[in-house]
Amino acid sequence: MINVADYVEAARERVPPERWCYFEGGAMDEVTLRGNVAAYARWRFRPRMLVDVSEISLRTTLLGSEVAMPLGIAPFAMQRLLAPDGEVATARAAAAAGALMTVSTLTTSTHAEIAAAGALRWFQLYVLRDRQKTLDHIAEARDAGYSAVVLTVDMPYLGRRERDARLGFTIPADLHVSYGSLFETSPAVTWRDLEWIRGELDLPLVIKGILTREDATLAVEHGADAVWVSNHGGRQLDHVAAGLDALPEVVEAVGGRCEVYVDGGIRRGTDVLKALALGARAAFAGRAFACGLAVDGEQGVAHVLSLLREEIELGLGLLGCTGPEQVMRSHVEPVVPYDPLA
Ligand SMILES: Cc1cc2nc3c(=O)[nH]c(=O)nc-3n(C[C@H](O)[C@H](O)[C@H](O)COP(=O)(O)O)c2cc1C
Repeated sequence: MINVADYVEAARERVPPERWCYFEGGAMDEVTLRGNVAAYARWRFRPRMLVDVSEISLRTTLLGSEVAMPLGIAPFAMQRLLAPDGEVATARAAAAAGALMTVSTLTTSTHAEIAAAGALRWFQLYVLRDRQKTLDHIAEARDAGYSAVVLTVDMPYLGRRERDARLGFTIPADLHVSYGSLFETSPAVTWRDLEWIRGELDLPLVIKGILTREDATLAVEHGADAVWVSNHGGRQLDHVAAGLDALPEVVEAVGGRCEVYVDGGIRRGTDVLKALALGARAAFAGRAFACGLAVDGEQGVAHVLSLLREEIELGLGLLGCTGPEQVMRSHVEPVVPYDPLA
């Protein structure tokens, strides 16, 4: 196992297809799912030479918290479907690596169990039809020591995931999803609701699932502390922009007023570096870590974290940078399509 692709292949072999479909699949024709990965190949590096790169540090801060690398673990649901310890295994690996973990509303471990692992954690919140439950989650997040809340705004309805239907994915009756279900998210949430959420919250608020400059501007105007560019791993509306492709317009609209993150299709450390070059403060990955968890539990997540960490570090050095903050727009350029008539 020497790269994420090896883990993707091994996970597919290991987890039964009627379960793996939920983790691997996307919405409808999966155009966006494939697009997320493909987007990175449309950018190439412009490395700078003869820079002293004898000491490289990957450390950065996210909303003021120190992290060991500019790559975090995106919230993905129901991790006990992949390993007995589920979210606890992921959290232990994150803690050991000094990486940030985002915990899904649809966690199959309790906040207390996850907290015991000691990782820096953000809580991913869905606004549920039952507002009281949402308020309870906010209170629980505060009590459980989360350092920020990530409000996911791209799921008024669950996307149409045809692999799940075809292969008969079901949630086992004995799986304990402590805080909500896939079908409870509210389709009636608006920007106005951000006001009551902000009012209930004494933690930084991240808005996840933004794909346009218009919504990025609204998020900042409504007091977001960070905007997280995401298409939910191609699982919601098919035929939207890849995360990386939506990033530049969001970065421009935000204009430095808050932090910007991106996810979707991260499989290599070089993908993270391209995201940084296009203005993200950090990138997040979901499936790369899900594959690690499926293959080897805590050790699998830890190994995927260390592989990506090494790739980011090597990439920084070869790019002529000694830290994430040195990666600039000038370190990348679009790959120019071959024009046979030129
Ligand atoms: C199996 C699975 C479950 C997910 N569950 C959630 C969730 O509960 N909440 C959420 O905000 N995003 C969820 N996501 C989206 C991820 O947070 C993230 O946006 C996406 O996985 C990034 O793409 P990648 O998997 O290509 O890295 C899920 C993604 C996957 C693959």
